[in-house]
Amino acid sequence: MKKILLALLVAAVLFAGCSGNASSGKAKIGVTIYKFDDTFMSGVRRAIEANAADKAELSIVDSQNQQPTQNDQVDTFLTQKVKALAINPVDRTAAGVIVDKAKAKNVPVVFFNREPLAEDMAKSDKVFYVGAKAEQSGTMQGEILAEYWKANPAADKNKDGKIQYIMLTGEPGHQDALLRTEFSIKAVEAAGIVVDKLAEDTAMWNRVNGQEKMAAFLAKFGDKVEAVLCNNDDMALGAIEALKAAGYFDGKKYMPVVSVDATAPALDALEAGTLLGTVLNDADNQGKATFDLAYALAKGEDVAKAGWEITDGKYVWVPYQKVTKDNYKNFKK
Ligand code: GAL
Ligand code: CA
Repeated sequence: MKKILLALLVAAVLFAGCSGNASSGKAKIGVTIYKFDDTFMSGVRRAIEANAADKAELSIVDSQNQQPTQNDQVDTFLTQKVKALAINPVDRTAAGVIVDKAKAKNVPVVFFNREPLAEDMAKSDKVFYVGAKAEQSGTMQGEILAEYWKANPAADKNKDGKIQYIMLTGEPGHQDALLRTEFSIKAVEAAGIVVDKLAEDTAMWNRVNGQEKMAAFLAKFGDKVEAVLCNNDDMALGAIEALKAAGYFDGKKYMPVVSVDATAPALDALEAGTLLGTVLNDADNQGKATFDLAYALAKGEDVAKAGWEITDGKYVWVPYQKVTKDNYKNFKK
């Protein structure tokens, strides 16, 4: 009798595995994050987990910044018969490979945070993207800097009527790096201000790199630097460390630093008066939209009913918001 029960149990578990439903009966969803060691993506990951809580059986893996690792993880998920995939690509230009793999098994994919190329998005009608319009965050950064510049004539230290600035960029090729860099400066110029770029370099979204790059720029340009723009908060927080080491923020010397994300440590820096401004990159809603879409797809439901506005049949755009000392308290958790 025991043996029969055991056999039945094994069969049930195997069957659950084949059908893509865990023994719990919940739909299985496979999630990859380009790397766990990224402050903003950790927030998105937490939001996905929180929304899945008692609804779905999630498996979330760390692609460790390696596209081949991520491709293997996708293969494993497909073998395990997940009902949907939620993918934060390592290399967004390599998303086509993942679309092909998923399409062959008729499994829907929701990409998030790293936008695949339009041609890869077009390969299947079961492919979606959740993200934010990077140009909007760039524009908001530029507006924050322009407003400060106009209100503080002393910010033009060499009195040449131009902003001498440093730009710290994220990963080369990432849409957020490219567009924030471009649109932040466009917004400053649109406000009628002339800019003079002293230097631009990547710090790979990373705080330590931001600190090192900024320290090197300060050694080279010294007091010529009048503003620092960073594609994300972590790099800005690193730059602020370098600025502190060079005597800034001690009450006499100030530097306007503007970034994007509004992570908890960035809100602390706003409170401390070291960060001039940032832009909320809404991890909570990006994570929620990613899960809601993947969950609807996993259940074979219409994504249009998942509660998010879908643009061009495939895209959910979560809005950005300006964050300065005037409103940062609203974003603290
Ligand atoms: C950006 C974010 C960065 C980094 C990057 C990872 O949206 O601003 O901090 O997390 O995504 O792809
Ligand atoms: Ca100047």
